[in-house]
This record gives sequence, C-alpha cells and structure tokens, in this order.
Amino acid sequence: MFVVEAVKKIREVIEKEKREGKKIGLVPTMGYLHEGHLSLIRKAKEENDFVVVSVFVNPTQFGEGEDYESYPRELERDSKLAKSAGADLVFHPSVAEMYPKGYNTYVETYKITDKLCGASRPGHFRGVTTVVCKLFNIVVPHRAYFGQKDAQQVVVIKQMVRDLNMDLEIIPCPIVREEDGIALSSRNTYLNDEERKAGLILSKSLFKSKEMIENGERDGLKIKDFIINNIQTEPLAKIDYVEVVDAENLQDIEKLQGEVLIALAVKFGNTRLIDNMRIKIS
Ligand code: PAF
Repeated sequence: MFVVEAVKKIREVIEKEKREGKKIGLVPTMGYLHEGHLSLIRKAKEENDFVVVSVFVNPTQFGEGEDYESYPRELERDSKLAKSAGADLVFHPSVAEMYPKGYNTYVETYKITDKLCGASRPGHFRGVTTVVCKLFNIVVPHRAYFGQKDAQQVVVIKQMVRDLNMDLEIIPCPIVREEDGIALSSRNTYLNDEERKAGLILSKSLFKSKEMIENGERDGLKIKDFIINNIQTEPLAKIDYVEVVDAENLQDIEKLQGEVLIALAVKFGNTRLIDNMRIKIS
C-alpha cells in the first residue's frame, strides 16, 4: 500500500501514524519527479518520521490553452523515485476524488497574486491555494516542503497559512540546478535541443546580476534593464516578465535592500520557463 488514492484511506493511515507520535511531512507535487522534488523528499525525511508525497496534476491551476492535458504523467516512475528518496506513501487522488461533482469552494489570496506569474496566469494561484489547502486538510502534516523555484508560490502559500491560521510549518527548499545552471523543472522536457541551450540565458543573467549586486550595484532598475538586455541577445527567448522585488512581500523595490528576489519568466517556443534568485543585501 505505497500508493493511496482515496482521501478516506490516507486519513486512516495518517491517524495511525500520529497515534504513534510520528511527525508527518508533506511534499506536494504534480509528479514527473526530478532531482528538485527528490531533494524536498529527502529533507522532509530528515525532519519528519513519515513522509507523504502527493502526485496530482491539479486542473484548477491551469489556464485555458495551458499544458494541463500534455503535462507528463508517469506514476510508476514517480512512485519508485519517491520511495528511493525516502517517501513512506504516495497520495495520488483522481480529479473526481479532489473535485467531486458539485464541488464549489475556492481559496484565494489577493494582491500578491496580481503580479509576476499571477499577472500572466490569471487564476493560477487560486487553483494552487485551493489544492494546497485541501492537501493540508487531508494530510494534516506538521511540515510541508516547497521548492524555491516557484518563489511566488512559496510567498502565497505562506500568506494563506498565516491568514487562515493553519497549524503547520512551510519549509522552502533551494532551487536545484543542472551542472550548466538551468533550474530543474518538469517542463524542461518540452524543450528541444536548441531551446534547452537558449534557456541557459536565464540562470546566466541571474548569476551575472548577483555579481553586479555583490560588486555594489543597488539600483533595481539597472539590474532589471541589464537582465532584459541580456535575455534579448538570445533570439529564441520571449520575455514574459523580469522583476526585482522584495523577497518577503513581492513589492517592487528600486533601491535594493533587505532580501531581494529577482524573478524571471521567459518563453522558448511554446514552453514558459521561470527562474529566480534571492539575494541578501548586507
Ligand atoms: O508546485 C507544484 O508542483 C504545484 O503548484 C503544487 C504545489 C503541487 C500544487 O498543485
């Protein structure tokens, strides 16, 4: 019973584990696991006694014309990988199990969802907060683990947890990159060789702007302009957004101070890649 599909069943399993005093870690995913997800699972296993990995391609967070249908689904492969990284259980509900007929409740966080990915993917974060809230209610974990690659998602989920008095800890984990710098993403599989090579411009721009900040640059607009110009040297890249914001509340900042988030979304062919870097200004 490594893969569980029913809410009722997973509740029974978790209740038993909790009765034995075990701490529960949850790693929510949409599957097609890569090393980034596995790093979350390993961390969850280090910090908890029982680790649940959810694998659910959540329809409510995809907009019209997005890749819901084509999103890669490989449960058997995911289960093996999750197990090898230390997961105790994979929760793989059907869409009908999560959104049964007559389903009519959504969780929405405002303002911080109007910008960055929220601006280019209207309704996306409403789907994310809804499904994550449901997963938290189903599993009731002590801790939940999210990749920092989706930096805005982490900020939005933390806000939801604070605002709705949810009793768990959100643990953001560092971006995992390939050796050449590209951030791992299940969507990287959509890229052809040329696009994959072109995609390197994202991490290169981020690392260069980090260097500029380390060398004393404090003008957010200059950093933004530098990144835009740098990305535009790559003919296959079509910029969706480049933003320099406060890492905690996503407010625009011109004079860099505190903890800064530089976030990018760029399209290569039909594939939209995101990447970011958090930089502490000393
Ligand atoms: O980051 C993801 O893969 C998804 O947005 C999440 C958190 C699993 C919700 O569907």
